[in-house]
Amino acid sequence: MRKKLVAGNWKSNGLLADARSLAQALADGSWSQAVDVAVFPPYVHLAATQAILESSPVILGAQDISPFWVGAFTGEINGAMLADLGCHYVLVGHSERRSLCGDDDDALSRKIERTLSSGLAPILCVGETLEEREGGRARDVVLGQLDSVWKRMDHAAGPQLTIAYEPVWAIGTGHSASPGEAEEVHRWIRTWLVGQMAAAGEATRILYGGSVNGGNAAELFRCQNIDGALVGGASLKIEDFLEIYRHAANSRNK
Ligand code: PGA
Repeated sequence: MRKKLVAGNWKSNGLLADARSLAQALADGSWSQAVDVAVFPPYVHLAATQAILESSPVILGAQDISPFWVGAFTGEINGAMLADLGCHYVLVGHSERRSLCGDDDDALSRKIERTLSSGLAPILCVGETLEEREGGRARDVVLGQLDSVWKRMDHAAGPQLTIAYEPVWAIGTGHSASPGEAEEVHRWIRTWLVGQMAAAGEATRILYGGSVNGGNAAELFRCQNIDGALVGGASLKIEDFLEIYRHAANSRNK
């Protein structure tokens, strides 16, 4: 049985006071044991968020990780630092990082390796652009992104992966994939995971991300292979985030 995960990616939003008040609202939230919850604050707000969430069930994650290790890498935040701050998850390969920050296959593989060797759990984000979807290439693109990381990583660590399917055309646009569109891709990913890892691929969580909100979450969570959500915009408004979480808590784990 896969436990759902609802994860809030705050992206590059909010000043320290905003992070503190969001974290406090999360610390005051009521959380079910049946569904995990996680937040991904900007690096500079990780410590303050961690201090507030320390004794709550809300899990902390980082939005990125350095592909380098400790040392003379000016401006980089490495895995040891993230683990020390109490992070559990790291987002790797978010489409904004792929398209705006030059994270290519090689960098992503190094980030996955650094995440794992720091004792952290990677959430690998994959997804096609609108052009790729309209050209009938969504399946090839998504499975190609998975393959390119998989062939460079230690397969023994495969069970530590979480996958987030985030169609680029749905991120921040207000146009979520329909449950049918999302589930179709999640099934492709599930089949791929089972092909690589057998039973562990069945147990791997596949999150959906892209304009998830309180209005569409319930339907998405009913799909057989949607094991939670990676939420951007709606994670910045506590009521919206809690509503999404409630829908996850009310849905059956599969
Ligand atoms: P969105 O972002 O919910 O604002 O579409 C999702 C994401 O990028 O993780």
